[in-house]
Amino acid sequence: MSTCSTAMTQLLLCLAAVCVVVNANVRLPQYTKYGKSLVLGGGVLMDDNAHVWSRIVDMAGGKAKARIGVISAASDTPATSAKYYVDLLVNNYTALEATFIPVTVDDVAKNSDPNVVKLIKQQTGFFISGGDQMRLVQAYMLAGNLPSPALQAIKDQYNGGAVISGSSAGTAILTAGPMVTGGSSWDALRYGAQESLTHSHDLTYRKAGGFGIYPEYLLDTHFSNRGREGRMIRLLSDTRHMSNGVNYGLGVSENTALVVTHVGTNNELGEVFGELGVTFFDVSKSYTDPAERYYSLRNVFVSYLTEGDSINMKTRSVTFSPNKTPLLGNEGYDHALTSNDIFFGEGSHHRKTEFLRVAASLFDARKDTMTHGDTHLTHPQFRVTMSKTGTDTAGYVERHGDFHSDTHSYKNMYVEIGEI
Ligand SMILES: *[C@@H]1O[C@H](CO)[C@@H](O)[C@H](O)[C@H]1NC(C)=O
Repeated sequence: MSTCSTAMTQLLLCLAAVCVVVNANVRLPQYTKYGKSLVLGGGVLMDDNAHVWSRIVDMAGGKAKARIGVISAASDTPATSAKYYVDLLVNNYTALEATFIPVTVDDVAKNSDPNVVKLIKQQTGFFISGGDQMRLVQAYMLAGNLPSPALQAIKDQYNGGAVISGSSAGTAILTAGPMVTGGSSWDALRYGAQESLTHSHDLTYRKAGGFGIYPEYLLDTHFSNRGREGRMIRLLSDTRHMSNGVNYGLGVSENTALVVTHVGTNNELGEVFGELGVTFFDVSKSYTDPAERYYSLRNVFVSYLTEGDSINMKTRSVTFSPNKTPLLGNEGYDHALTSNDIFFGEGSHHRKTEFLRVAASLFDARKDTMTHGDTHLTHPQFRVTMSKTGTDTAGYVERHGDFHSDTHSYKNMYVEIGEI
């Protein structure tokens, strides 16, 4: 090697070293407290939900410090949508600033604009609002499923501690696993997961996933409100053996969020904030019964956590809120309920929808250890069987006066699905 080229190599190494140092410097003050962090909002995040909105601002650096980039490309009116969140974050929740990130399906070129990348690098947190997650894919991803420079900048900020919060499509897009794009529970069980729509309520998904920010869970939203338990179980079970498939899923209900801190470490913690809850699914030990004519699945485990409960996202060990008490021995009723429309979700975020109601009643029943709910649709009619006799199964409650208003949580409820 000539002297000249040796000198050149050293210069390049030196430049490379500088480059590494620059990247390592993108470490925001909040990283010390939260590590890499996410706020997975379930949609319909009300503007008075201070628990969740204040948490987002706090995790983005705190009052009068947080600079939040608002990513509203999922909306069909991104600028209007962004203005709403900018005002809310700054005026009501005292972020220092909130800024519309102007990458949209109508201006995709902005995803490679150095000025936009520079703007993103100034943010200490992000909020991704709802709409259609495929618009986010279109706006932020390049051909070959590669991140655009704008998306890469968002990921770099996230790696340095900028919280990424989302609502609805803004949560669904974060997955690295197959990303759900539509469908209802009975149709999911009947026809399975499809990459494109053939029947109007088909479970559809994007095989290549979303932004690839959160790898170990499938993510879904508006969850209990729309009775999406069946579609989650089917999507997990149909895709778990794919290269980016996973055995775990979580569905966030409306006006509720799962706050995840220290992502990627052994201390990765998920905490529930807000009005309803988060449903967790584990299909790692599940199997289908080949003798059945239609879809069936046994050995699914379901947990439902509400405000104040937390879960280690790696070990899936659950800690119930200190405000709750164990239901075992303190059940309020003799018998569990059943349902003839187990995936009914009427959209109201103020009540226990069918799956939650039946499951909560099982843990609140002193004489029953099993119950079931059937699908309203038939040919075939599916039955969801629930049992609380498994290992490490427990229900907890915070009483508020009656079954309807009591806050129930449970872990490791055994579930199976099959044709009646
Ligand atoms: C947010 O701020 C606006 C303007 O100050 C106010 O009218 C509105 O009631 C506030 N909303 C909440 C939820 O605090």
